[in-house]
This record gives sequence, structure tokens and C-alpha cells, in this order.
Amino acid sequence: MRLFAPILVAAFMVVSVAGTALAVKGPQAVEFTIHNLSANMGGNPQMTFDNQYTTNEEEICIFCHTPHGGTLDGPLWNRQIPAAGSFTHYNSATLTAAAGNGARPVSKESLLCLSCHDGSIATNRIINTNNSNPTGQPENQMQGAGIAVDIVSGFGAPSARIGESASNVNGTGDLSDDHPISFSYFDAYTEESTQPGGGGLRAPGAPELADVRFFGAGAVAGGMRVECSSCHDPHVAYDTYFETWYGPIPGGISADPSYAPFLITPNTGSALCLACHVK
Ligand code: HEC
Ligand code: HEC
Ligand code: HEC
Ligand code: HEC
Repeated sequence: MRLFAPILVAAFMVVSVAGTALAVKGPQAVEFTIHNLSANMGGNPQMTFDNQYTTNEEEICIFCHTPHGGTLDGPLWNRQIPAAGSFTHYNSATLTAAAGNGARPVSKESLLCLSCHDGSIATNRIINTNNSNPTGQPENQMQGAGIAVDIVSGFGAPSARIGESASNVNGTGDLSDDHPISFSYFDAYTEESTQPGGGGLRAPGAPELADVRFFGAGAVAGGMRVECSSCHDPHVAYDTYFETWYGPIPGGISADPSYAPFLITPNTGSALCLACHVK
């Protein structure tokens, strides 16, 4: 039996370095999050005062996924995505060539999020509508707005509109004040590790063991891309509003506030940042 342990550990390392989503997941219950844009959200537990919901669409997943006829851009994806080249990346003099290449396109994994969060595409516009919804598109009744509802601007307070910045309020393609995405962690690590002191990034394998995710190829040149979902999980339940006011979430799941806002792993003590950075 003893021989098995190292083999299993080795197998795990290979799989995890290959960039698959092996992360230990936080409590999965998208219904009880602000990502539930459906009417059951509006009619029942209202998590926050400014959340969006429709009154004519009962399905939750449909705003992002469809069983048939979606696009190949993401997992059974039910939304149009913005153009990959329409974004300005964060930049600085100290970035590596990989993260500092301002001309790189945004990868599809991040365009999924940006299909709502850049503010250019209405959150209630989907590709394959619900057969039981006579009006088709989730309409008109998204809270506080008209037929097509964008993620609103809110600069000054932490805003969910990632496509804007202080110098570009109401913008849609401005990632200049956002953590770099859509570049190869492996390439950044390789460049950094030649610097005196070994650079500031952890060796491939370590971040995954600390529960972050990478996308695309594994630990090879161009591999291990950092995307929104390296740090985020769009389904994780972190808002205790429902439990506080309506009782336990069915299925024995408890919302965990340390995963706010939709984090892949809690950032308590900056654990998420330290998963990749040696600081
Ligand atoms: C606000 C958008 C959104 C909603 C709502 C949503 N998802 Fe997702 N889902 C995503 C995104 C983005 C991904 C890809 C990134 C990731 O894996 O985290 C994904 C990935 C998935 C995956 C594949 C990866 C995995 O985690 O297993 C499954 C399965 C899935 N979703 C099921 C569902 C179901 C079922 C619902 C409804 C109960 C739902 N999702 C609601 C955005 C959403
Ligand atoms: C269908 C549209 C849609 C998609 C797709 C979507 N979101 Fe959201 N998201 C929303 C809405 C609506 C809100 C609430 C906005 C507000 O409060 O103004 C939100 C809020 C958030 C918040 C802030 C939560 C808080 O408590 O402040 C985070 C973080 C977030 N989303 C991350 C993501 C990530 C990462 C992805 C992709 C993996 C994603 N979202 C995909 C619609 C979407
Ligand atoms: C390197 C990790 C990382 C990446 C990559 C990342 N985020 Fe975040 N994001 C965070 C953390 C951590 C927070 C919480 C910040 C806080 O609470 O101060 C956050 C907060 C947010 C919020 C809430 C608003 C705010 O400003 O606090 C939204 C919306 C969001 N992220 C969406 C996205 C989207 C969309 C992407 C991809 C374009 C993305 N994030 C990429 C780590 C990341
Ligand atoms: C998934 C891995 C990962 C996570 C998690 C992560 N980062 Fe990063 N971060 C990187 C990489 C890689 C770079 C690019 C480094 C380079 O090119 O020099 C970067 C760049 C940065 C930069 C810009 C550095 C510069 O030279 O301009 C800052 C600041 C930063 N990250 C802070 C954070 C903070 C704060 C957190 C937690 C909220 C965080 N990061 C989480 C991987 C990560």
C-alpha cells in the first residue's frame, strides 16, 4: 500500500498542473446569490437592495447557460460575448512581457463574465429563450430599468461594471484599473524567476494547491492563463441574507461570507493573492 501514496500524489500534481479546475469548491448554490437574475429572486428573497431580477423568467441558469442552441464560447453558453480585441489592459513598467503585452486579446473564459460585466451587453439578453416563457426574452421588469438592463456604472463605490475606470466612467472596454487577465502565468513565472531573488511568483503547481484555477494548456509556454475565474467562481454562495430571513438553504448548504464576492477561495489574510504572489 505504501507505494501507492507517492504515485497518487504524483498523479495529482500532473493533473493539477495541467490547469484543470481541481480547486476545492466553496458552497455551490447560485440560486441564493446575486447571480440569480430570475423571478424567484425577485418574488422571494431579495439579497440586496440593488440586485437585478426579472418578473417573467423563472429559470436561473438560463441567463448564462442553455441545454441546446447556445454558443461554443463557454459551457453551453447562452449569451453573446463582447469582441476580444475591444479592451484596454492594465499596464505598468514592472510587468513581465506576458502580462504587459497590451495588444493581447481577452480570452473567452473572461469574455463570459464581461458579457455582463463590461456594461456593453444587457444582462437580460439571451440567445435561446425559455419555451415556457410566452414573452421570450426576460423583459422589461428587471428592477429599476427598461427593456435591456446593463450593469450600471457606479464609480466611486466598488462597481460591478468592470469595463469602466475613474478616468472612463461609463466605459465598457477599460480594464486598465483591473488585475491583469488573459496572459500566461507560466510565461510570467518563467520571466520573473530569472530575476535576482527568484522573482515574485510561485512555481506552477503551488497556486493550484492553494485553490486558484488556470485555463488553457498546463505548465508549458503560453499555458496556465489567468482569467476572471482564476480568482472567481460565479456559482459560490456567500450571502447569508436568505438563511438569516428565510431559514436554511435546501440541501444542507450554508452560504460562506468569506467567499464574497464570488471568490474561488477566501481572501482572508490575502490568501488568494498569496496563492500566486510571493510578497
Ligand atoms: C451569472 C452567470 C451564470 C449563472 C447564472 C450560472 N452559471 Fe454556470 N457557469 C458560469 C460561467 C461563467 C462558467 C464557466 C466558468 C466556471 O467554470 O466557473 C460556468 C460553468 C458551469 C459549469 C461547468 C463548470 C463547472 O463548474 O462544473 C456547469 C456545470 C454550470 N456552470 C452549471 C450551472 C447551473 C446548473 C446553473 C443554474 C443552477 C448555473 N451554472 C448558473 C456562469 C453562470
Ligand atoms: C448574466 C449576467 C452576468 C454574468 C454572465 C456574470 N455576472 Fe457577475 N454579476 C451580475 C450582476 C447583475 C451582478 C450584480 C451587479 C450589481 O450589484 O450592480 C453581478 C455581480 C458580481 C460580483 C459582485 C458581487 C458582490 O457581492 O458585490 C462579482 C464579483 C461578479 N459578479 C463576478 C462575476 C464573474 C467573475 C463572472 C464570470 C465568471 C460573472 N460575474 C458573470 C451579472 C453577471
Ligand atoms: C487576481 C484575482 C482576480 C481576477 C483575475 C479577477 N478578480 Fe474580480 N475580484 C477579485 C477580488 C479579490 C475581489 C474583491 C475585492 C474586494 O473585496 O476588495 C474582486 C471583486 C470583483 C467584483 C466586485 C466589484 C469590486 O470592484 O469589488 C467584480 C464585479 C469582479 N471582481 C469581477 C471580475 C471580472 C469580470 C474579472 C475578469 C475580467 C475579474 N473580476 C478578475 C479578484 C480577481
Ligand atoms: C492566479 C494567480 C494570481 C492571483 C490569485 C493574484 N495575482 Fe496578481 N498577478 C499575477 C501575475 C502572474 C501578475 C503579472 C506579474 C508580472 O507580469 O510581473 C500579477 C500582477 C499583479 C500586480 C501588478 C504588478 C505590476 O508589476 O504592475 C499587482 C499589484 C497584483 N498582481 C496584485 C494582486 C493582488 C492584490 C491579488 C489578490 C487580490 C492578486 N494579485 C492575485 C498573478 C496573480
